[in-house]
Amino acid sequence: MFYEDIPNGKNYFDEDGHLIQAHGGQIQWMSYFDINSKSVVSKWIWVGEDKTSGAHGGIRAYSSEDLRNWKSEGIIMRNIDKREDFDNDIYFKKLYFDKSSEELDHIYECINSTTAIIERPKLIYNKKNEQYVLWFHADGPTRESKSSYAAASAGVAVSKSPFGPYKFVDRYRLNICPDDQKDYYPQSKGMARDMNLFVDDDDSAYIIYSSEENLTLYISKLNDDYTYLSETVDKAVYGRDYIRLFPGAQREAPAMFKRNGKYYLITSGCTGWAPNQARYYITDNIMGNWKNMGDPCIGDTSHTTFDSQSTCVFNASNNKRIERYIYLGDRWNSNKLSESSYLFLDIEFMEDDSLKIFYQERGLVDGN
Ligand code: GAL
Repeated sequence: MFYEDIPNGKNYFDEDGHLIQAHGGQIQWMSYFDINSKSVVSKWIWVGEDKTSGAHGGIRAYSSEDLRNWKSEGIIMRNIDKREDFDNDIYFKKLYFDKSSEELDHIYECINSTTAIIERPKLIYNKKNEQYVLWFHADGPTRESKSSYAAASAGVAVSKSPFGPYKFVDRYRLNICPDDQKDYYPQSKGMARDMNLFVDDDDSAYIIYSSEENLTLYISKLNDDYTYLSETVDKAVYGRDYIRLFPGAQREAPAMFKRNGKYYLITSGCTGWAPNQARYYITDNIMGNWKNMGDPCIGDTSHTTFDSQSTCVFNASNNKRIERYIYLGDRWNSNKLSESSYLFLDIEFMEDDSLKIFYQERGLVDGN
């Protein structure tokens, strides 16, 4: 099977003929050291949730040279089936040999394949440490609550290769509403669910996520290693280390990108796997005021973002002259999540920097 373009909203297979499992994911152009050819190669990399076995399939990656035909690079972060696998399975044994028994209990709670929920993985490269850093929505029951989305945390894992194996570092609650602002969910502080990452031109990295029981989006700055916040929660300064966006507006599925010095954030509403109306925001300053620009979709009569939910926007021009930004959305199939499909839609920019997204039956049909 060779693809000349993308079958939007239809079954989409990798080079081995398997349905692509990269839901809630992210695509980017990356250069990395390839162990097979022992040289630096540049390719498109797509990371996302593998939903083959439901909610606990781990994180998978794909690579591509043409953005249309994808080779599976396998599961880059595995969920662990049994606590004993830390002793019996060489994969986990090698990764976590330096951990104490208590630490292993905690890691097991965070990445086990029965209750732990790992969603919306996003990958960035840290030049300083030459390390690949994967962040994701890390959820599941906790010792205090049996609810399946109780942890509401952001998880982080690191690797020397983009394709893993990634070593889980920890999962964290993040920044909290300052005392002089209205907290929409004061009973549980620092929650983090749907998330994304953004690295600016000066290499500062940010995590963008739904907090306050998904009622308020936050943007928090990461530290130089990209493995934690720029400042511990108790010392974080509002407006410098983090901001709250649109308190109470209930937005999720944040997809942030930059073009011509402006930052864009496409979001969805919060209706689980059911699609809803997109809304986007623009600013000149990440920690400044974001302007609500409304729904970017044109001709979307059902107001469901063409039956999709945002997961990322990537620059597909790949250093070629023609500018091309692609909206990547998930068309969730709630009856069978593994059969959820994808939408690749070109974004059109207007003179005034506003944007428009039209439906396209096939994605990436022409051009670069
Ligand atoms: C959606 C969210 C997904 C997943 C789902 C679970 O709102 O965007 O990533 O968490 O809810 O119901």
